[in-house]
Amino acid sequence: MVGSAYLAAEGLEQPLLEELTRAGVAVSAWHGRLALSPDPPYASAWALDIWTAPREHAITSVKTAADLLRAQQRNWSAYAGLHHRRMALIADHLPLVRARALRFPEPAPTSHLGAWTLLDRDRLLASPTKSSPFALGECRFEEDHIGPPSRAYLKLWEALTRLGEYPGPGDRCLDLGAAPGGWTWVLASLGASVRAVDKAPLDPRIAAMPEVEQVIDSAFAMPPEPVDWLVCDVIAYPARLLALVERWIAAGAVRRIICTIKFQGNTDHAAADGFAALPNGRLMHLFHNKHELTLLWHKQ
Ligand SMILES: C[S@@+](CC[C@H](N)C(=O)[O-])C[C@H]1O[C@@H](n2cnc3c(N)ncnc32)[C@H](O)[C@@H]1O
Repeated sequence: MVGSAYLAAEGLEQPLLEELTRAGVAVSAWHGRLALSPDPPYASAWALDIWTAPREHAITSVKTAADLLRAQQRNWSAYAGLHHRRMALIADHLPLVRARALRFPEPAPTSHLGAWTLLDRDRLLASPTKSSPFALGECRFEEDHIGPPSRAYLKLWEALTRLGEYPGPGDRCLDLGAAPGGWTWVLASLGASVRAVDKAPLDPRIAAMPEVEQVIDSAFAMPPEPVDWLVCDVIAYPARLLALVERWIAAGAVRRIICTIKFQGNTDHAAADGFAALPNGRLMHLFHNKHELTLLWHKQ
């Protein structure tokens, strides 16, 4: 019996498995990147998508599988771990659900979406509910190949889309670890004013944006100051970053925090636990994250 299932990002099955094991969530089998558990759903940070109500069904044909899914709800997304051809035949019998790339700052889809797979030729696993509003947890955008100086901007686009809130004109933002300036470009393009702090210089095009003030300094040297948004993409040990975030929260100076936590080699789960324990915080692995997690935090 499957009580919950967790879709790992490509190549990040290990941190997901370690996280679940630490939390006492058993993994009975892997189906491709999907970890199957007999336990109730756990709010995993590393899973791209959590199947929160999976049920197994014996199926005798493509048609019985499609009928069974359609009888439950309209919108389904498929995870094809095995039996790709048979799954494609079933999908052909289901209403088309377009996984269209978003045009930022377009909001995330709100329509109800489930997930299914074939565990075997005649064994369907279907979850009418899941944690991500995106098929396979993949938040895709129409990319901008001209404005931003690096692809890191996609992480902030995704974080803001998941938060469902955006900085705008009149908002003060502090961007720590800003160079070459992808995140600063996102914030300034939304009309917010940005202090961009890095030991390295910004791309000159970004530094010249009227909303941007460049500060060449260490992120850790910045005393907390009143800001609407603190965003941080600094490369640093997770424990050091946690101390920085805790200092800013304790000072009561900031309304919203978006912070990437980067791991090198082994995943520092103890530090991740520290971020996860922050009241009003949400720790998640974004589709555009590598061996990273993202903290979304808001003041009460
Ligand atoms: C992944 S890059 C940031 C990319 C950026 N968010 C963007 O969108 O272009 C990490 C940055 O952290 C900076 N960094 C590392 N240690 C730092 C520190 N102590 N203070 C400030 N910046 C630091 C590096 O110079 C680098 O530019």
